[in-house]
Amino acid sequence: MHGLSDLVLPAAGRQRRAIYSDPQVYAQEMERIFGRCWLFLAHESQLPNPGDFIRTFMGEDEVLVIRQADHGIKAFLNTCTHRGNRLCRADRGNARAFACNYHGWAFGIDGTLAAVPLEKEVYFCEIDKARHHLVPVEKVAAYKGLVFGCFDPHAPSLDDYLGDARWYLDVALDAMPGGMALVGTTQKVAMSTNWKLPVENVSGDGYHLGWAHAGAMKAVQSLDFSGFAVGNTGVNLEGGMSVAGLNGHSVLATLDGKSGYSFYPDPREALAYLAENRARVVERLGAFRGEKLWGSNINFTIFPNLQVLTGLNWLRIYQPRGPGRIEQWTWAVVEQAMPDALKQQILENQTLTFGPAGLFDNDDGDNLASCTEQSRGWRTGQMEVYTHMALGHSGPRPGLPGDIAMGIISEHNQRHFYRRWHEHITAASWADVPRYNVNGLDDQAAGAAGVSAA
Ligand code: FES
Ligand SMILES: [Fe+2]
Repeated sequence: MHGLSDLVLPAAGRQRRAIYSDPQVYAQEMERIFGRCWLFLAHESQLPNPGDFIRTFMGEDEVLVIRQADHGIKAFLNTCTHRGNRLCRADRGNARAFACNYHGWAFGIDGTLAAVPLEKEVYFCEIDKARHHLVPVEKVAAYKGLVFGCFDPHAPSLDDYLGDARWYLDVALDAMPGGMALVGTTQKVAMSTNWKLPVENVSGDGYHLGWAHAGAMKAVQSLDFSGFAVGNTGVNLEGGMSVAGLNGHSVLATLDGKSGYSFYPDPREALAYLAENRARVVERLGAFRGEKLWGSNINFTIFPNLQVLTGLNWLRIYQPRGPGRIEQWTWAVVEQAMPDALKQQILENQTLTFGPAGLFDNDDGDNLASCTEQSRGWRTGQMEVYTHMALGHSGPRPGLPGDIAMGIISEHNQRHFYRRWHEHITAASWADVPRYNVNGLDDQAAGAAGVSAA
């Protein structure tokens, strides 16, 4: 096995390719990242009524997320406590109870073992049903509609885990009354890539837009992104920003307040919605977030495997399936306050661009699979990946949380992602994981929300 400490050298902007293919590294990730971090489970809008459930994953552990009778949300391992069968096979639905397909044990939506067939006759009433309760996920909590679970009882609270990333995330979750909602069905794609590669790509890689997506850029002919259509040669390198140093989370954003809708065949309805509600959002979130961020293309990354893109209108999780495989789950994202016609347009455009057969998504899949393959060889596994761009060209900006590199072509966020990965993988427990919010709101003068980037 490779020594964990030399797999990633955050200060040098390098990581060993073996981290994308080594099964022992993957086993450590299951324990120290997916077994330790807060992981996205569902959006509350997907579970409006008691008994509503979703079947999802935390790492490779399958879980059932269920709305309770008291309207709280609980999550349990989706495995029968009798002989280990998968309990629920449906992806989503409403249930009064879950009966196992193997021998018929039935569990309530609160996880209690409610019924055991022939309990008296074959168990002689000697079974301790309380002991065979479904196994709960240790911690479940929500932040403005996003529901997360965590297996580690010693993890910080969800609020502390998200830290100052919440300040930015509120642009997606709390700009308008009613917040965010997921629409349409779950779009699932199996891909031959290591889970870290798509996360770091979306977290900060503006560099690939004018190459990997040159054809797609040409097809959508966005004026806001015209510089990317020709090998990045026309890009305004000063525009936008990459924000990291937020407990491992990051933000990549244009700062124009409108390019989130640049890839729409006809963005007029979306632009009218922005114009109509801009003043309200400024009042709610302050001038910087209301004018520069709301409506922009923004990629939020919540470590380790959740991404929310308000501009391109999707929310995505990457479910690891071994070192070189993932299931990528995507939903279209809208604001509840949007008119129905705009919500429908968003769903259609998201399918066209980043759906399973989307114009842009297919470009990425091929490159990410290829990078994964090129880490598997005896020799290539020892090689490094160079993530050095803009190293040393970042810092705090007045009024804005995080370590900020200006421009959206940089490897700033990717580097911070690997730094966080490294901090977790080398730590024996949460007590050894550093927590930091660079230029944290707590450290700043009052009134931060209204201050512009310098
Ligand atoms: S394994 Fe579920 S009832 Fe036996
Ligand atoms: Fe891409």
